[in-house]
Order: sequence, then C-alpha cells, then structure tokens
Amino acid sequence: MIDPKTVPSFKLSRGGSIPCIGMGTFGSDRVTPDEVARAVAGGIRAGWRLFDCAACYGNEAEIGRAFRGAFDEGVVRREELFIMSKVWNDMHRNVAESCRKTIRDLQCDYLDMLFIHWPFPNYHAPFCDVDSRNPDSKPFSEKEFIDTYRQIEALVHMGLVRHIGISNMTIPKLEAVLGKLHIKPAACESELHPCFQQQALFDYLVEHDILPIGYMPLGSPRRPERDILPEDIADMEQPELVEIAKAHRCHPAIVCLKWAIQRGQLPIPFSIHNYEANLEAAVTEPLTDAEMATIATLERGNRLVKGQVFLWPGARDWHDLWDEDGVIVGGGR
Ligand SMILES: NC(=O)c1ccc[n+]([C@@H]2O[C@H](COP(=O)([O-])OP(=O)(O)OC[C@H]3O[C@@H](n4cnc5c(N)ncnc54)[C@H](OP(=O)(O)O)[C@@H]3O)[C@@H](O)[C@H]2O)c1
Repeated sequence: MIDPKTVPSFKLSRGGSIPCIGMGTFGSDRVTPDEVARAVAGGIRAGWRLFDCAACYGNEAEIGRAFRGAFDEGVVRREELFIMSKVWNDMHRNVAESCRKTIRDLQCDYLDMLFIHWPFPNYHAPFCDVDSRNPDSKPFSEKEFIDTYRQIEALVHMGLVRHIGISNMTIPKLEAVLGKLHIKPAACESELHPCFQQQALFDYLVEHDILPIGYMPLGSPRRPERDILPEDIADMEQPELVEIAKAHRCHPAIVCLKWAIQRGQLPIPFSIHNYEANLEAAVTEPLTDAEMATIATLERGNRLVKGQVFLWPGARDWHDLWDEDGVIVGGGR
C-alpha cells in the first residue's frame, strides 16, 4: 500500500488539485467488467485515488459496486477519490441524462470531472470492427460541440460535476471553441506515450493552462483489434526505454509513467496485474535529465487510436479526424 498523501498532484486551473497518476478502466474489449472492477477495488486498497471511467466502457455499474464496497468498509471516503467519466458520442444531445446515469452507476453522488469523450457525435457500437461505419456520422461542428459543452457547464452549476474535460481534440478545434466556453476546461485527454508525444498539442494545452492527460501511456499493448495495424510500434520495446528500465531495475512500463509525470502530463495506465507497481512509479526515484532527453528523441508519430470508426461519409481516411494541416477537416460552424 502506498500512502496516497505521498503521491504528488497537479494543480487545476479553476482551483483544487488532482493526483499525478490515475487508473484507466477501459477493458479494451478483452477484460471483463468484473475483472476491471476487481482491479479498481484492489487499486483503492493499494492507494490509488484517481479513476478514469467512461459510459462507453460498459463497466460503470461494476466499478460503482467496487466504490460502494470501499466506502461501506471505511477504506476511503467519497471526497478522497477523484472520479472522472465521459459522455459517449450518442448522448451529446442528452448530457444530463448520461451524467445522471453515470453517477447512479458509479454510486458516487457527483463527478470530479466529466469529459466530452470525442468532439463529434459519431457513434460506433462496442466491439465493432475497424471497417464499421455509421452512415449518420458527421464532421466536427463548432456549434454542436459548444452546445454539448454548455450542457456540462449547466451540470457544474447544479453541483453534479466539479470540472470539465475535453478529449481527442486538435489545436484547430481548440482554437475554434476555447474563447466561447464560459467555464474553462480543466484537462484534455489525448493519446500520449513515448513514441507519440504530440509536442505541439502538449505545448498548446500547457500554454492555455489545460492539464494534459495521457491515455494509452504504455502504448496499450492489448488494445482492441480495430486499433492494431502492422506498422504500429511497441513503445515499451524501444531499446532506449529498455536500457533506462534496466538502470532503474524496473519494467519499461514504469519508465513510461515516470517520463509522463515528469514531462507534466497525467498518465492513466490500465492494469489488472501490475497496478501496485504502476502507482509506485509516482513515488520512487525520478528519471535523470539525460534519460528524459533520451525519451524525448523516441517520437515516431506512432498514433495508435486512428479513429477510423468515427469517419463520416465523404471523409478520405482517418487522417481527416486529426486536422493535420492545421484546419478543421470537413468541419463547419
Ligand atoms: N479518452 C479516450 O478516448 C481514451 C482512449 C483510450 C484509452 N483511454 C483511457 O486510457 C486508459 C489506458 O489506456 P489503455 O488501457 O489502452 O493502455 P495502456 O495503459 O497504455 O496499457 C495497458 C496495458 O499495459 C499492461 N500493463 C500495465 N502496467 C504494466 C506493467 N507495469 N508492466 C507490464 N505491463 C503493464 C496492461 O496489462 P495488465 O493488465 O496485465 O497489467 C494492459 O494490457 C484506458 O483504460 C482508458 O481509461 C481513454
């Protein structure tokens, strides 16, 4: 057990703080809801305090029972946890309903942060394959995004949500909306790992006082089949990372987590077997400046979540989702 008080935290722009590392809860279509809930129950007892949930992970009711068990046994109080969840793409017009269901399922009274999971309402079914497309999918709409965001702002005023998060954003989309939001987003969840560092997006977020949260911080070795392509790189197998791990006598996963925290982003690793070691990463010997500099050279453009299943009719390919030329592709007001 690690004393949660010894785990460093990041400050949030609207006040308050958040632990510097959180437990992911997406079973990647491979790990059952009960197995994830067992990891959450064990994680709380091991000292984890931040949990990254989402309605679309299909396991919030099971995780809620793990939270309830910990509250009832007096292991932790609700206010000692930082619980995050996300509105799925098919609920952008019904955010309050989605939020209330999540709060009921998670048995947590309120959410510490609620994210817009993806910046468009394009829905795909759980367990879908890489070629699956929804004919109703549309490109990003500034108006629709702001409307969805306003619904979360209303939930903040009602006391159901403390902070607002955004996710899977690009700089052009942020530029389009940030000036129009009444409550500043506290954090932005993006894919961030040593071989996909998104330096420009990271710098933009830091400049705008939005905490970068890094998903797939280990390069997600067991991600869903739809997110695996032959050209993908295994971050944790990079020789430089393996060498640094040897020097610290730890697994390369721990090096990825230390790098993330020291860089200033909050990693949310998923684990049902290694979560105790992962929390230790936050409280043990940091990487040296030279090791941080070596990892900075590992950028390989290794985007793992391409997002093909969110493409709209007429889109060229997954690159269109990420506004790589600095303009919102296909998008309008
Ligand atoms: N906002 C978004 O759109 C979005 C998208 C994707 C993911 N996420 C969030 O990010 C979280 C993390 O992403 P992820 O689960 O895809 O990938 P990840 O955290 O990069 O990788 C998880 C995998 O790494 C293994 N692992 C964890 N710790 C390890 C260690 N110390 N040594 C060796 N192996 C280790 C786990 O296996 P074991 O279970 O065997 O330890 C698991 O298979 C998700 O759970 C979810 O909460 C958000």
